[in-house]
Amino acid sequence: MSAELVCFNRSCRARFPITEVTYNCPLCGRLLEAAYPGLALDSESLKATWRSRRTCNQPLDQSGVWRYREIIPFLENYDSVVTLREGNTPLLPANGAAEYGGLDHITFKHQGFNPTGSFKDNGMTCGVAQARRLGMKRVACVSTGNTSASMAAYASAAGLEPLIFIPHGNISYGKLAQALEYGARTFQVEANFDQILALVRQLAERLGIYLLNSINPFRIEGQKTIMVEMLDQRDWVSPDWVVLPGGNLGNTSAFGKGLRELKQLGFIRNVPRLAVIQAEGSAPFYELYRDSERGKLKSVPHPETLATAIKIGDPVSWPKALHEVMESNGVVEKVTEQEIADAKAVIGKCGIGCEPASAATLAGTRKLTATGVMRRDADVVAVLTGNLLKDPDYIYRYHTGQLEAPGGRMIEANFGNRPVVVPNDAERIASLLSSSF
Ligand code: F0G
Repeated sequence: MSAELVCFNRSCRARFPITEVTYNCPLCGRLLEAAYPGLALDSESLKATWRSRRTCNQPLDQSGVWRYREIIPFLENYDSVVTLREGNTPLLPANGAAEYGGLDHITFKHQGFNPTGSFKDNGMTCGVAQARRLGMKRVACVSTGNTSASMAAYASAAGLEPLIFIPHGNISYGKLAQALEYGARTFQVEANFDQILALVRQLAERLGIYLLNSINPFRIEGQKTIMVEMLDQRDWVSPDWVVLPGGNLGNTSAFGKGLRELKQLGFIRNVPRLAVIQAEGSAPFYELYRDSERGKLKSVPHPETLATAIKIGDPVSWPKALHEVMESNGVVEKVTEQEIADAKAVIGKCGIGCEPASAATLAGTRKLTATGVMRRDADVVAVLTGNLLKDPDYIYRYHTGQLEAPGGRMIEANFGNRPVVVPNDAERIASLLSSSF
């Protein structure tokens, strides 16, 4: 078995050594992906091996990514791997959220339980391992916050220098704080995500810096394992749907690739349908899906949403993501700021909580059941991509009726939970408590 980089473009399929530092095909410009020609796995025995590794004390086995290393075999050995014990995220059923979403049941795969609080850690451990294998010293990314937090942590843990480029004033403080604390050199650029990505690609080429955005195919390999772990936790029974938020669309590409490979290799019988949810003000992929005749994504020059993680108008991975949505017989939906905010509060009230972009999943589910695309009795796994504490400012504003949507409209606190100021007086507090029941 060998690993190589292959052009994603089905009519090009140019091949390159797995150690080539290139993200786009030099022949046709499309993104590359890792491929393993001739890979054949004994699925039944591996299922048992993977399960038994959960109780092992070896770092590689404790990682919810490297535990599944046979399905991401791009390294020759594991000397370059740094793990913070990423993955290992729970599947959480939530009755209140199911009811709100128009379903009998829903299960959240909560990637916010990762070491830096988002799904990016699954991919980052792989991207950083490849960077070290290649002998890179500096790594860079542009980010709406979570990629940078994750890259900062993994690069610093690996002894690499992390360089972070973020849209000035447009990421949450929780995420910016992580980048600073993990020791990344942080540049707040006065431009939006899409513009900064173009800038960083130029810089990376000029200065020989390794890029760890989701155009990096090894990040995608790591994010595949989110689906592998989810299926392992479900004893290899596929759900009907996997719902996820869509921004730069790396995750959609990764989930689709992972699920297809699991089917080809005999681990699962059916591939679940992907439902990708975008925020209304940053929904170029939704528009493309609605008008797939067009064949090409029309970018949104000034994307807007309070869910800053998915505030992206020109997603680089759209061709891969479109392929995966179509292959899985999936759908793309969009939701409003109000719908995201309310869904987020509902997820919070289940005792689970998540950041705004993640709540697009439940908001989208509610829309898809209302229109009959998703059946009430469907078996649905929604992926919560980031931790509740990533964006506390948003939460406080929502619950106190101060959350303003782009354009100036106030978000209604339909599920608001205002804190109450009280005097230091047991009598008064007791009477307040009795009046509320
Ligand atoms: N949810 C969260 C919490 C994210 O941080 C992101 C992406 C997404 C969803 C969308 O995932 O890009 O794979 O479609 N955040 C990136 C970042 C862009 O820079 O942290 P996607």
